[in-house]
Amino acid sequence: MKGKRDEVCNEHHPSLIEQASRAQEKNHDHNNDENDSDGDRRQEQKHIQEVCESFRQHATFARCARNGHNMRVKRLPKSMLSVLPKALTDPESDEYKLRESIAKNAEIRNQFFFDCMLNSSGVENSQEFQQEGFQFEWSSDENISKTFSVLKSLVREWSAEGKIERCQCNGPLLDAIKKYVAKGSRICVPGAGLGRLATEICALGYSVQGNEFSFHMLLCSSFVLNSCIKEKQFEIYPYFQSVGRNSNKFFDIYRKVLIPDVVPHVLLNLDNEHSDEEDESMPDFSMAAGDFVSIYSDESQHRKWGCVSCAFFLDAAPCIAEYLQTIHDMLEDGGYLMSNGPLHYHWSGPDVRPDDKSWEDFETKHHHLDKRYLASIDLCWEDVRSILINIGFDLIEERIGDTAFYTHNDLGFCNTVYKCIFFVAKKKIYDS
Ligand SMILES: C[S@@+](CC[C@H](N)C(=O)[O-])C[C@H]1O[C@@H](n2cnc3c(N)ncnc32)[C@H](O)[C@@H]1O
Repeated sequence: MKGKRDEVCNEHHPSLIEQASRAQEKNHDHNNDENDSDGDRRQEQKHIQEVCESFRQHATFARCARNGHNMRVKRLPKSMLSVLPKALTDPESDEYKLRESIAKNAEIRNQFFFDCMLNSSGVENSQEFQQEGFQFEWSSDENISKTFSVLKSLVREWSAEGKIERCQCNGPLLDAIKKYVAKGSRICVPGAGLGRLATEICALGYSVQGNEFSFHMLLCSSFVLNSCIKEKQFEIYPYFQSVGRNSNKFFDIYRKVLIPDVVPHVLLNLDNEHSDEEDESMPDFSMAAGDFVSIYSDESQHRKWGCVSCAFFLDAAPCIAEYLQTIHDMLEDGGYLMSNGPLHYHWSGPDVRPDDKSWEDFETKHHHLDKRYLASIDLCWEDVRSILINIGFDLIEERIGDTAFYTHNDLGFCNTVYKCIFFVAKKKIYDS
């Protein structure tokens, strides 16, 4: 089969880790001299290793955090211990044992999911790593936290529980694509996350390329798209990261979610009898790994896309004008940008203070932060709207204030509700 199956299936395609590295190489070839490029490539490899390591250590960190919680309880004075439920204080009680076994099962199940994922990318899983006695370093808290974020994104994108979020976020984009974009057009989905929106667009009959730069996300999307072959194939336990915070019952924290709600190949209709034949009518489906601007600002991408469609992505830019200009350049004349999401600004950083004597002072004080936190320009919609028009778009639809969740916990006591700006903009057609 043309494109579509080749891109989605592992057996015909280089592993995702190779793809990602290559996207980076391409990127560095443009921007750096050879020495820098070598150094950057080494750093990139190191980063990939760290990401894999964090997935391998997910259960170990979870067990440690649980043990730490138990230790804190044990250290309470006797008077306080006496008023706590047995489920927290008495290891011999049935209630305590039940909770322990539920927690252990959840940790093991999550680790099983990540181990299958690592294996499918040709990387040693946690068991193999232990058996072979490989050297390792403990992961950073940030990387471990990202493994939990991946689980929550799995719920959002590939579970029945995530349907409400998908309707809120992806629904308006899919409707707009059906309304405006000609069949056969090429659509780019930047900030693709775990690939659900990209897959659904492809299922409508469009050629799609998702783009994502997080290796945590890329490893997982590759696994779901290529290797999940049965509905509800995996149990994951996404909610126990923060132990008892903002929750009602212990069992709410340790509840399971089944993944996937639908098999990607079935969604894409790849499992029909003709799916192994070359079929020119099948739309392409691929994932481009790497930074959005680095990949798509390249001249080879100019005027190559009929539409860019994204959810919760534009505010991931340190400077939204740069993303909008890149999108304008990559679109054909008359091409569409459609976006849905808040203006939360992912890189929003610290404010300058009266005792910061100069910009250099400010930068030096925050040298430990990613530079993007210091560069972020957070603009209101009114200003973003002006930029769109100044760059050369006509705004043809605009809806402000639709509410949406992002990886919310249905049974949790604390969830953020975003008010979104949904818009469709059309690249002006200039007389040549
Ligand atoms: C808030 S999440 C939204 C994910 C998905 N669109 C959804 O709605 O669930 C933003 C995504 O954009 C990705 N991202 C952020 N900056 C990026 C960049 N410069 N290039 C490619 N991907 C990027 C992040 O890794 C993350 O997966």
